Amino acid sequence: MKYIKNKFFVENVSLQKLTKKFDTPLYCYSYKKLKKNINNFKLNFSKLNPLICFSVKSNSNLKIIKEIKKLGLGADVVSKGELMLAIKAGINPKKIVFSGVGKTYSELKYAIENKILLINSETKSEVKEIEKIAKSKNKIVDIGIRLNPNTDAKTLNKISTGKKGDKFGVNEKTFFELVNYLKKSKHVNLRCLSVHIGSQIFDNKPYEKMLKVIDKIISRIKFKFDYIDLGGGMGISYGNDRKIFNYSNYQKSILKYLGKYNNKIIFEPGRSIVGNTGILISKIIYIKENKSKNFVILDAGMNDLMRPALYGAIHKIIPTIKSKKYSNKTYEFVGPICESTDKFSSNKKFQKLKEKDLIIICDVGAYGSSLSSNYNLRPKPAEILIKGSKIVIAKKRQKLIDLI
Ligand code: LLP
Repeated sequence: MKYIKNKFFVENVSLQKLTKKFDTPLYCYSYKKLKKNINNFKLNFSKLNPLICFSVKSNSNLKIIKEIKKLGLGADVVSKGELMLAIKAGINPKKIVFSGVGKTYSELKYAIENKILLINSETKSEVKEIEKIAKSKNKIVDIGIRLNPNTDAKTLNKISTGKKGDKFGVNEKTFFELVNYLKKSKHVNLRCLSVHIGSQIFDNKPYEKMLKVIDKIISRIKFKFDYIDLGGGMGISYGNDRKIFNYSNYQKSILKYLGKYNNKIIFEPGRSIVGNTGILISKIIYIKENKSKNFVILDAGMNDLMRPALYGAIHKIIPTIKSKKYSNKTYEFVGPICESTDKFSSNKKFQKLKEKDLIIICDVGAYGSSLSSNYNLRPKPAEILIKGSKIVIAKKRQKLIDLI
């Protein structure tokens, strides 16, 4: 994705051309970036030869999941819907793991019937529910248990999941109890220890701490896990921070603490695979002048991209056509929704904009469209996948008629 003679292109396609055809707001993804991210991820963990299960919650677009499947990844799902989608995309069920704190009877049954690799369980009651279903079907079901390693991921508070007070996983004591219980189970086969401490992580220390806890537990428990599922969480750079996740350090730490056990490592990355593959193109409806700043009112709102309103997340905003004329006022980019948190960012030094201009909200490939909603009864945007010069409609714009 780059400017060619001041005009923004996704691979070989100009945004001018795209928006003329598909209107705005519009999600647009680059296949080339997706492929590059997946190859880099594999390369970065090549010493571990892991099973990489793409976290479908970060992007649940069928066409994109199909491409991810073709590039060799499995799936991490958290609902029946995501599981159905992953299967529809052609992902081998033996490459699918099912996570989540509250899987219902119907979801568990569906997962068992489809013979997925692992159900990662997070409560005693769920383990017993799985056992009951397995028994009734006279099956043996492979599961993992998600441990809460009591580790602060040092990321945004709202996306940290591995601390004592978080609802995720089970504590060490329950973990030991469940392992002992399952040793005797005829219908549930415990094969995996799973963890996931949070998202958008850059610091290797929380990962080290998590690995130390796993090491301690496995060395005490004397139980052979076939898999250790380390979840996802690897951070990406948003905006100008230029932060880089150090994969090499993480791989070294994994080898240091877990190498001796020879388990198959599973990862569940979402953001690091799709985050920077997508942009959201939006048109300026109005510019409202104010004494200290100008409100740039976009046709994309918090229902289309929820991250800023929900987490205070920052996404860089750039123009589709570059100019050298700068405004001396602060631009506050806001959506049209009736909520004060419906704003994207404030920019002090931005080029002069006018109504009907197009802007780009960057790095929205993860938790962008998948977190979108129909709030204010707004149809969800179309989604386009660009492959060189090829334009693939990955999702049609919702029609109002279907919502009303
Ligand atoms: N595995 C489990 C069990 C998870 O809960 C998650 C994310 C992942 C894997 C993938 O994590 P990733 O590699 O994408 O960091 N909506 C928030 C992020 C919430 C993440 C939830 N769990 C956001 O927009 O930043």
